[in-house]
Amino acid sequence: MNDGTKALARLAQLAKLGAYEAGIDRPLASPQERAARDLFAGWARAAGFGLRQDSVGNVYVRRDGTQPGLEPILTGSHLDTVKTGGAYDGAYGVVGGICALELLEARGVKTKHPIEAVAWVGEEGSRFPLGCLGSSVFAGIKSAEDVLAIVADDGVSLRDALASSDGGLLPGVPMRGDRGVAAYLELHVEQGPILEEAGVSLGVVTAIFGQRRLRATVTGVSGHAGTVPMRLRADALCAASELVLALDRAARTQTDAVATVGRMLVEPNGTNVVPGSVTFSLDLRAPDDASLDVIERAFHDAVADVSARRGVTVEVEAFERRKPTPMTPALQAAIHRVAVAMGQKAIDCPSGAGHDAMSLGTIVPTAMIFVPSIGGRSHVAEERTADADLELGVEALAAALVEVDATLGAKGRG
Ligand code: HGY
Ligand code: MN
Ligand code: MN
Repeated sequence: MNDGTKALARLAQLAKLGAYEAGIDRPLASPQERAARDLFAGWARAAGFGLRQDSVGNVYVRRDGTQPGLEPILTGSHLDTVKTGGAYDGAYGVVGGICALELLEARGVKTKHPIEAVAWVGEEGSRFPLGCLGSSVFAGIKSAEDVLAIVADDGVSLRDALASSDGGLLPGVPMRGDRGVAAYLELHVEQGPILEEAGVSLGVVTAIFGQRRLRATVTGVSGHAGTVPMRLRADALCAASELVLALDRAARTQTDAVATVGRMLVEPNGTNVVPGSVTFSLDLRAPDDASLDVIERAFHDAVADVSARRGVTVEVEAFERRKPTPMTPALQAAIHRVAVAMGQKAIDCPSGAGHDAMSLGTIVPTAMIFVPSIGGRSHVAEERTADADLELGVEALAAALVEVDATLGAKGRG
């Protein structure tokens, strides 16, 4: 059985970094997220694996293969969290990656391809407003220059944050000058109810939902709460409230689609002042782009209607659009073969949650392995997965890496 105690103990160590009463808060380039990257690097050094980073902070831990010149298979996830993060979202795939390499090393299992366990930075977009930030640069979706110029809500650019002593790049770790990769596998907790409801411990992801992130700013007229008659008001919060419910209604018309307004800023935010301005986030997800188009169009129609009726103006900025990411059938089949060999029932399931696999899936054969989330909960302090499932997932990842190594064509096509 896997020396899973290392995986569990490492997850417990990571969970302390950024822990507070509402969960774990480990935003990119914060001291606690840098401490997590340091921990990961320490495990790599202790295991004698290669260790490199890149200009935006991604960390790569390498175990060499038997055929020099082959591009590496990558496996990984992220160490940053949402504000109320749990102990497993992202961290599990990073810990699982290096534990899988250690399992192969301990068992003397050779692979043709080098294998690299990766900690991608900034997947959550919780500080710098771009999701899958580090993997987007690696996959060539965004340039390092553009990403380093992104400014967080606190006014700090990523470039400056990564230059800081307590949140920056890892000292003494060489740069991975290339973006070579042959295939990508990501181990992650499901963050939803499907596996638990099916009573299975392994999921093979079929596709990751398309997602769109927008921001709406509603501008009305502020005024005295006691003296502005209702008939004369241009109340930005009442207008925003109608728009939030219009978005909710539109999402409910599209199968499996979801829409969330998770963040809202009301100004001037006084109990006796009519709100003059409201900014809120929109997070849209669906298995297909057509559904996202329907929801987005319905929202824009509501904007036109509410603006006219309530005398407000509404600015809508779209700052992230990702098409649905289908996983690679040949790699999905490899994971199913591994599950059978392990005597485990694995089921196919979609991912409503986004992952760095969305970035890698644009350039190489890509697949994901899920283990169950208890109660389907995630992005909350109560996020939990059974220890036995965590250990099983690491074993499945190690076996899947070997299976993918064996089945990848010479050119690394799945
Ligand atoms: O938002 C997501 O789906 C991911 O957790 N970043
Ligand atoms: Mn997440
Ligand atoms: Mn995640």
